[in-house]
Amino acid sequence: MKAVVLTKFGTSDKAFDIQERPIPKAKAGEVCIKVEAFGLNFADVMARQGLYNDCPPLPTVLGYEVVGHIHEIGTGVEGLEVGQRVTGFTRFGGYAEYVTTVATGVALIPDDMDVGVAAAIPTQYGTAYFCAEEMVNMHEGDHVLIQAAAGGVGTALVQMAKNRGCIVYGTAGSDKKLEYLREQGVDHPINYNTSDFEEYVKKHRGDAGIDVAFDSIGGQSVKKARRLLTKGGGRIVCYGAASRSTKKIQLFADIKLLLGFGLIKPIPMLMNSQAFIGVNMLRVGDHRPNSLKRCLVNVVKQVNEGKLNPTVGGRFSVDEIAKAHDFLGGRKSIGKVVVTW
Ligand SMILES: NC(=O)c1ccc[n+]([C@@H]2O[C@H](COP(=O)([O-])OP(=O)(O)OC[C@H]3O[C@@H](n4cnc5c(N)ncnc54)[C@H](OP(=O)(O)O)[C@@H]3O)[C@@H](O)[C@H]2O)c1
Repeated sequence: MKAVVLTKFGTSDKAFDIQERPIPKAKAGEVCIKVEAFGLNFADVMARQGLYNDCPPLPTVLGYEVVGHIHEIGTGVEGLEVGQRVTGFTRFGGYAEYVTTVATGVALIPDDMDVGVAAAIPTQYGTAYFCAEEMVNMHEGDHVLIQAAAGGVGTALVQMAKNRGCIVYGTAGSDKKLEYLREQGVDHPINYNTSDFEEYVKKHRGDAGIDVAFDSIGGQSVKKARRLLTKGGGRIVCYGAASRSTKKIQLFADIKLLLGFGLIKPIPMLMNSQAFIGVNMLRVGDHRPNSLKRCLVNVVKQVNEGKLNPTVGGRFSVDEIAKAHDFLGGRKSIGKVVVTW
């Protein structure tokens, strides 16, 4: 089989090589999937840049999710059959024609589901669902701040917040993305390159603040959002550090990012009834696989019911992998970026 191998960290044009590899065998509790398409995630961009701690040593095959058909079933797996169409999480290895993964990490999907929509489900919608439904509750009338709202996870969070009847403040980096956010029903689209989101929210909310904030930027962005949290139940969910990605000098950038977050002081948080919540889906998969499965199943159900509608912002073929990475890493993408074999 062919696999897109990350052979060196750096720019996308020099980082990847398409190589022949043996088809993996499904072990006990696993399935092997023949891959139609794999999704790109921002973590892949950070891994390619050598900035992702969980990335295996090189050479390695990236990829957190695939869409395809079950090719082989390992021992002990029940309820799945060869030939069924699935979308599923992969713990790396997804940029390949075949990949094995735990059977609990896949969900059946209809034959006519768009491949890009299906690719958006495991990681981006799964992460959003875990953040929005398992780690916090959103209620009708809540004021919710979502950073990088036009991205993959961002779009999912917007749809989940709007489904709950929340008032959404969504940030993005261009006017084109702001237009998209309006179409998605975002009540307050904010271009954070031209206006300060903290000032914007303060102007509209005064001291009332934000009930829930979702942050994938890290550093200063978190410090500012924490200042906006309402007293008496304000929560911030931090699940990424995209601002780290473009900085060249690693140590300086790491220190700047760390200091940017500000000090988390438990006593004032206790006194003000506020919460800081961190999310890393790899740890969720390691320690609470049932929770991961629940997120996947519920997202598939809501996509099938039309309650969630992933946007596919970029479709590439596998020989355009560098272009696909630059599209996502260069902040041009909206919604999901998918790569087909
Ligand atoms: N914790 C977890 O388990 C987990 C799981 C999935 C994803 N994530 C995180 O969630 C975030 C979103 O992931 P995604 O795959 O859906 O990506 P995405 O949001 O589709 O793309 C990343 C977006 O981040 C914004 N951004 C802000 N600062 C940036 C910078 N310095 N460089 C590049 N982009 C920057 C850009 O939007 P604007 O141009 O609009 O600013 C860009 O389009 C990422 O930070 C990712 O690492 C975490």
